[in-house]
Amino acid sequence: MVFNKNGGYITTNQELKIESLTRECEYMGEKLRIGVLASGTGTDLQSIIDTSEKGMIDAEVIVVVSDNKDAFALKRAEKHGIKAFFVDPKGKNRTDHEKKVNAILEDNNVDLVVGAGYMKILSPSFVKKWYGKIINIHPALLPSFKGANGQKDAFEYGVKISGCTTHFMDEDMDHGPIILQAAVKVRPSDDRDNLAARILEVEHQILPRTIQLFAEGRLKIDGRKVKILKGNSWKEKYKTIPDVLYPEGY
Ligand code: GRF
Repeated sequence: MVFNKNGGYITTNQELKIESLTRECEYMGEKLRIGVLASGTGTDLQSIIDTSEKGMIDAEVIVVVSDNKDAFALKRAEKHGIKAFFVDPKGKNRTDHEKKVNAILEDNNVDLVVGAGYMKILSPSFVKKWYGKIINIHPALLPSFKGANGQKDAFEYGVKISGCTTHFMDEDMDHGPIILQAAVKVRPSDDRDNLAARILEVEHQILPRTIQLFAEGRLKIDGRKVKILKGNSWKEKYKTIPDVLYPEGY
């Protein structure tokens, strides 16, 4: 499988796992056009909208798609004048549902798809189509505690440190190459809800940072690893950003 210039791919061997690919992400255009997939409250979405509106990321959310008509994420989008679509999964098989989602993303010329609390598992063919241009945020330190309840599962397991992860999606759930991670200490007084709330605050830091790295063309996928190319530090530019990550600031 080889990527063409437009970020699509040509299949040369069906047996190849996308994990074995090496691909440089090269977004060097104007503002990155983001499509967000969200099923819930949408605070991760809000972190992208806010940093975009403040000019902290060279990206804007163009469209939000949800599989849940009551998702508050849709209301957030509308409030900010962003197109919002509910694609009802009822009565559709996964292929038909994803066709509709894909059509919305393509019609809106999306450069990057962001899974931000999207609770529907995407099929391998959908992910392959967008590979290298689709990321996800997960509320645990992958590869530990995959799945829908990462924060709760980590808490119940008794870990002393949890956190969150951004990663490129691949055909396996919560598995693709890791971009950024940030740790959150578990306090003796924590219950699973306040631990989840502290993790969420940190998600709101690493998700926009990840998007900015993508927008600057600084993420290079090399097998399982994502190399972060040298460039501007957010921390230097925005002194108020808490240093949840690396001294480099990314
Ligand atoms: C976040 O914890 C995200 O990591 C997980 O779902 C949650 C979404 O929260 N995948 P919100 O809907 O963005 O507030």
